[in-house]
Amino acid sequence: MPLPPRGTVIHAPDAPIEPLLADAGRTVAVLGYGNQGRAHALNLRDSGVRVIVGGRTGSEARKRAESEGFASFDLAEAASAADLVVIALPDEVHGRVWGETLASAIRPGQVLGVVHGFSLHHGEIDPPPGVGAVLVAPKGPGRTVRERFLMGQGIPAIIAVHQETEGPDSGPDAASLCLAWAAGLGCTRGGSIVGSVADETDTDLFGEQTVLCGGLTGLILAAFEILVEAGYPPEVAYIECCHEAKQVCDLIYHRGLAGMRAAISNTAEFGIDHAAPRLVNDRVRAEMRALLAEIRDGRFAERLKTDADAGFPDLHRHRQATADHPIEQAGRTVRNLMPWLAEDDAKVEASGASDAHHRGHGGARRATEDGQD
Ligand SMILES: NC(=O)c1ccc[n+]([C@@H]2O[C@H](COP(=O)([O-])OP(=O)(O)OC[C@H]3O[C@@H](n4cnc5c(N)ncnc54)[C@H](OP(=O)(O)O)[C@@H]3O)[C@@H](O)[C@H]2O)c1
Repeated sequence: MPLPPRGTVIHAPDAPIEPLLADAGRTVAVLGYGNQGRAHALNLRDSGVRVIVGGRTGSEARKRAESEGFASFDLAEAASAADLVVIALPDEVHGRVWGETLASAIRPGQVLGVVHGFSLHHGEIDPPPGVGAVLVAPKGPGRTVRERFLMGQGIPAIIAVHQETEGPDSGPDAASLCLAWAAGLGCTRGGSIVGSVADETDTDLFGEQTVLCGGLTGLILAAFEILVEAGYPPEVAYIECCHEAKQVCDLIYHRGLAGMRAAISNTAEFGIDHAAPRLVNDRVRAEMRALLAEIRDGRFAERLKTDADAGFPDLHRHRQATADHPIEQAGRTVRNLMPWLAEDDAKVEASGASDAHHRGHGGARRATEDGQD
């Protein structure tokens, strides 16, 4: 049965996990055991699903999966043994892994799953007719997916069926495995939203570029530099323009923009209307539209692929520039005033929800505490 229309909220009763359960003879292969893969493998296993892990030979992540009780296999072997194959590898390697390894291992009736739509949407993965393709994109980093699951909660996901399985012997339909996957992950406990692969890919990239990662980084750095240029101490500039972002983001996360306004001082609230229209003016809106156009027509994907294929020289240069920026020294001084920040991280690590083991594996992504990847 197809998924309901885009925008429909799916709750637990609409998403039975039974089609994926070990009792139904099903197996899920999670390829990759990093930020997302580990959370998917652990949550699905805790939900009663038989999970195996796939990885490249000698992979550190694969060793971790084995130490956490999973049988692990080479990518093709794991993929060919599963009903649902969850590709939890960095987006930039999907095309190569698909072409060199997975395309010949996958047969009609199996269902491929992605955690973010980029590679399916841009044709890096091109499943042949008969092979199902679905998306379950939890809207948060793997650490949060695992943490909330362990708390009996779940974060929302965008879910989509890109292509249905076909044929009389095709086994379970892709839509029912998609719903069961979201359920086993904990993402229907609160509710997940039906979208398309294009919806998820375009909005995810646009949000991270204009607001969450690009916009925020640009604003914080510019504001820090202007205060320091004007003679204010760097540590004070850091507190005002970077550290405090979390307090405001927490308010927005919990209560929305109107709720945030209600919780801040009249002075701060008056400042919103004084500054926001001047900062985000017609020129900025035009740039946002241009960024959206580049996302939609594939120009951004092309640029990312070119850099990834060359070993990410641009990404590494900018990563190093951020590490070398004076804001980092000021940030270290300020964060040392709050030793509980490191203690909080250590607690998460001890709880088993952490992704910290996998940071710095060379991918383009970094997990954040409780929000966007
Ligand atoms: N980061 C997040 O929280 C987040 C949030 C939402 C969606 N997503 C999506 O989740 C997917 C996975 O991202 P991620 O951040 O979880 O990745 P990640 O943490 O970088 O994990 C990558 C995994 O893939 C393996 N790997 C890396 N390169 C490989 C290659 N060339 N061949 C085979 N295995 C390779 C790594 O193991 P070894 O290096 O040990 O082999 C590791 O197990 C992506 O589609 C991403 O967009 C991520």
